[in-house]
Amino acid sequence: MVENSQNRYASLLKKSIANVPEYIPGKTASQIAAEYGLKPDAVIKLNSNENPLGPSEKVMEAIRNEAGSASLYPTADAGNLRAALAGYTRFPVKNIVAAGPGMDSLIDALNKLFIGEEDEVIVPVPAFTYYGISAAGLGGVPVYVNLNEDYSLNADAILNAVTAKTKIIWLCSPNNPTGNIVIAADIRKLADQTKAVIFIDEAYVEFSEGGSLSFLVEEYENIVIGRTFSKAFGLAGLRLGYMIAPEWIVSGLLRVLPPFSVSFLAETAAIAAINDQEYLDSGVAMVRSERKKLIEAVLEKTPYKAYPSEGNFIIVDVSPKTSKEAVDAFLKKGILVRSCDSFQNIGINTVRITVGTPEMNQKVTEAFKFL
Ligand SMILES: Cc1ncc(COP(=O)(O)O)c(C=O)c1O
Repeated sequence: MVENSQNRYASLLKKSIANVPEYIPGKTASQIAAEYGLKPDAVIKLNSNENPLGPSEKVMEAIRNEAGSASLYPTADAGNLRAALAGYTRFPVKNIVAAGPGMDSLIDALNKLFIGEEDEVIVPVPAFTYYGISAAGLGGVPVYVNLNEDYSLNADAILNAVTAKTKIIWLCSPNNPTGNIVIAADIRKLADQTKAVIFIDEAYVEFSEGGSLSFLVEEYENIVIGRTFSKAFGLAGLRLGYMIAPEWIVSGLLRVLPPFSVSFLAETAAIAAINDQEYLDSGVAMVRSERKKLIEAVLEKTPYKAYPSEGNFIIVDVSPKTSKEAVDAFLKKGILVRSCDSFQNIGINTVRITVGTPEMNQKVTEAFKFL
C-alpha cells in the first residue's frame, strides 16, 4: 500500500528535494548502548556538544512546578522569554525572536524569508551542515567556500563567490566543528562589500573568551545573530533557540515562524535558566579550564594534533588513524565522540570531542592510549 502510493504520488515532490543533503546527527546514548551491548548510563556522551552537567536544579524545579500547564497554549511569540532575553542580551525586545524546535527552526525561518528557487547561500566549510540542508530544501543552492588551512575565514574567497543570486552568508563563531572564532574585521569587510544577509551563529558563544559579535547588529542592517539554549544552558532536549536581528528581519521572522513554536514548559525552563546566572557561569568556567587541560593532554601525551578551541568541544587530527577507527576505539571504552567525516573539507582523520567533566576528560585522555 505504502509502496504504491509512493510510486503514484512521488512526482508531486518538488524537484529541489532530490538535492537536499542528509543531516547526519550524533547518535544518542541509548542507540549506542543497544548497538554495543552497553548500559545507557555507562556511555560517556561527548558527540553532540551537550552540557555534561545537565540542566540546573532551578530549571528542573521550574519545569516540575509548571507541569500542570502542559494542557494550555503558550503565548504565540514567547513574549515573556523575549523580555527575559532582552535583559540577558541587552538588546530591546523588538530585536529578539525566540523559536523552536531549536535554533534549527530559526535557520529554516531565515532561509524561508530570503531563499527561493536558485537563490544562493554561501557556507564556509567545514561548518555546521544544517545551513545548506535547510536552504536546499527551499530550492536554494548552497555554495561551499573553503576556510583557510588554519580554519580561519577567507573573506576574499567568500567575496569572490558572491553573485547577484547570493542572499545569505552563513558564518559560525565559534565555528562548529573547528572551534575557532570569526573576527569582526572580516565580517565588516563582507557586510560592506555585499548586499547579502550575514548570519553569525553563536551557538557556542558563552564558552568563547573572544565574546559576542552581537554589537554588529547595531552597526549593520544586514547582520543577524543566532543563539541556542542547547549548549551552555543545558537544554538541548527542550529545543529552543533565539535570534538577535534588525527590526525588519524580526518582523519577517515573526510572520514565517509557526505561532506557539516555543512550548510553555520550554519557555518556563529558559527563563529559569537565564535567571540562574551562577549555574551558567560555573558550567562555562568548567568548560574553559577542562578544554585547556584536554588540549594540553592530547598535545603532550598523544602523538595526535589538537587545535585551539573557543567552543565546548575540541577537534583532534588522529592521522594516520582514520576518524572511524578513533570513534570505534573510544566506543570500546564506552566513550562516544563524533567523527568529522560528514563535514565538508576536513578529511577523514578528524574527531570532535565535547569537553566533559574532569572525570570524563580523564577517561578520554586514557582512551587515547588504546587508539
Ligand atoms: C553551530 C550550531 N548551530 C546550531 C545548532 C542547532 O542548535 P539547536 O539545538 O538550537 O537546534 C547546533 C547544534 O549542534 C550547532 O552546533
